[in-house]
Amino acid sequence: MTNYRPPIYKKSPYLPFGDQRNAPFYGKDILSVKQFSRSDLDYIFAVAHEMREMVERVGTFDLLKGKILANLFYEPSTRTSSSFTSAMERLGGSVIPINEVRYSSVSKGESLPDTVRTLECYTDVIVLRHPDVGASAQAAKYARKPIINAGDGVGEHPTQALLDLFTIVEELGQVDGLTVTMLGDLKFGRTVHSLARLLSLYDIRLNYVSPEILRMPEEIIRELNDQSISQNEYDHLDRALPETDVLYVTRVQKERFENLADYEAVKGAYVISLQTLEAAKNRMIVMHPLPRVGEISMDVDDDPRAAYFRQMEYGLYVRMALLAMVLGKS
Ligand code: NCD
Repeated sequence: MTNYRPPIYKKSPYLPFGDQRNAPFYGKDILSVKQFSRSDLDYIFAVAHEMREMVERVGTFDLLKGKILANLFYEPSTRTSSSFTSAMERLGGSVIPINEVRYSSVSKGESLPDTVRTLECYTDVIVLRHPDVGASAQAAKYARKPIINAGDGVGEHPTQALLDLFTIVEELGQVDGLTVTMLGDLKFGRTVHSLARLLSLYDIRLNYVSPEILRMPEEIIRELNDQSISQNEYDHLDRALPETDVLYVTRVQKERFENLADYEAVKGAYVISLQTLEAAKNRMIVMHPLPRVGEISMDVDDDPRAAYFRQMEYGLYVRMALLAMVLGKS
């Protein structure tokens, strides 16, 4: 890592304060990180940075006044659902929250396409979290309004990857040249699947540290190999840590295991403590999509390298940017 340089964002002709209908994301679904190019990311982060400044200056503003978002969550969520709600409300819009699908017609057996076709009658955009890989893409096939994938099973979590990358840019000033080490459940963790793919747009080195049964899926390793990304796998953190600029820690995804004994065998495989950080660079950052369930001990929280709480806040700005871009101002 070279010395910190503050990020420089290219000014975009599309900052969302005029009519957005010709802007690149207007009316589009956000389903996978595969849909983004590097210039898309520059654009999204420039808007997100603008959102940060606006929130710090004025708190809320009326960019999306009158627009309505449906938050449709078939799986638990704290950060993703509430940051989308906050993002929409800070932009002057409103939200229909369906966080407990068991109290909706889903519990009567309604299909995903029908639920989505219902909600789009009342709203302008649908944020969907679902346990099945590909659910958002399926919903998007039936919906006329934009669908934003907020996690499809073990598949992808594109808005999380965008906020993860924005965190790296804001904290370290650059992405090219960094070594990113992903630790924990790389098999079932959808956030690392999306983030690894997004990072492959940069000149990056990736380390994967996991128990044998939770290795990064072959499909993703192959995809990144085809893009000549340097990838190394380890079962211990020791060898990867000293060269690491970003340590991305994940929770072992208990809910995805078929056999609870397998979960019990690996759940405490890695715990980051202050002592662990002794071997790390002073300018390394520790990230985690959260929730944590013991992978990072609380004594790390006060270390300046602990970026996971700041990371949550960056999520608000990225989601504001996405909503502003998708819904535009008409
Ligand atoms: C993640 C998720 O839902 O995939 N959480 C989040 O959105 N911040 C990570 C996790 O649940 O472990």
